[in-house]
Amino acid sequence: MTVLVIGKHGQLAQSLASAGGNDVVCVGRPDADLRDPVSLERVVSSVNPDVVINAGAYTSVDGAEGDAEAAFALNRDGPAILARICAARAIPLIHISTDCVFDGEKAGPYEPDDEAGPLGIYGLSKWQGEEAVRQTYLQHLIVRVSWVFSEHAHNFVRTMLKLARTLDEVTVVDDQVGYPTYCPDLAVGLLKMAKDATKPGFAAWGTYHLAGNEEIDRASMADAIFAASRAAGGPSAQVRGVPTADYRTAARRPLNARLASTKAFRTFGVRLDDWRPGLTRSVRALLSQHAAAPAVEPKG
Ligand SMILES: NC(=O)c1ccc[n+]([C@@H]2O[C@H](COP(=O)([O-])OP(=O)(O)OC[C@H]3O[C@@H](n4cnc5c(N)ncnc54)[C@H](OP(=O)(O)O)[C@@H]3O)[C@@H](O)[C@H]2O)c1
Repeated sequence: MTVLVIGKHGQLAQSLASAGGNDVVCVGRPDADLRDPVSLERVVSSVNPDVVINAGAYTSVDGAEGDAEAAFALNRDGPAILARICAARAIPLIHISTDCVFDGEKAGPYEPDDEAGPLGIYGLSKWQGEEAVRQTYLQHLIVRVSWVFSEHAHNFVRTMLKLARTLDEVTVVDDQVGYPTYCPDLAVGLLKMAKDATKPGFAAWGTYHLAGNEEIDRASMADAIFAASRAAGGPSAQVRGVPTADYRTAARRPLNARLASTKAFRTFGVRLDDWRPGLTRSVRALLSQHAAAPAVEPKG
């Protein structure tokens, strides 16, 4: 099986590359640019994959509020083009989406068929990208993920460790809850789904959720990151929990980001492992990366 991944340097693209070995071909910009239909057409025809995973996106939730043009171009229009290209060749398309399509008002974890209600431009652009894929091509799997972390690229773990190098106390919201998701585990799950999607007779097209197995709030996750860092001899900081209402960001985020993964388990037998060992691995890897990099400003 050859899997073409749109994206190369992002955390999901890198995790898919590690998990899939020679089966996975990750292509980033400019060779695969979601703003450039010709590049997408060219890469799909030259790689000639059995399945495409779109791991490329405009991913800055706050940035999207001031850059709607880019968010819609990458998160809505690019996936629509990719779906048309895949449809013309009958190649299954796995498109990655987000918990931010929901408003976070539901009491329990979100199921794939729950009503969307994005709170900001990022969530809206991702929701419209989902809709574009659904309307363009039946042979799709839309897989919503949330709170993804790893030792690659930018994510909450890297941000917390960076802050702890210069601050004694960090302020983190304590009323947003989610299921943290270790990206290498997510990659293994997605590749299993990709494999099933290429089997003759596969018909379970549609929308799925894939997330870690244990709920936590953001402030408690920061505490867990610092505990893992301390245990590995790295920096840590006091966590001051505050309600989202007292913590201003450009974009509103769902208070409830929990995605129920039961449909993915029932259909594909995919269930993500406990995310805590992944957190320890990520923290250790990030500390090693930092130790190997040039020094930055010490705590003042
Ligand atoms: N991280 C999370 O917590 C989280 C939560 C919910 C959903 N998601 C979704 O998960 C998916 C993967 O996210 P991630 O965490 O891997 O994000 P990331 O680390 O920010 O990586 C973004 C990826 O998008 C690619 N990209 C950016 N502009 C592009 C363009 N014009 N054309 C093609 N590709 C472009 C980058 O490609 P290059 O390789 O060329 O740099 C990179 O591979 C996204 O769909 C995101 O919305 C992530």
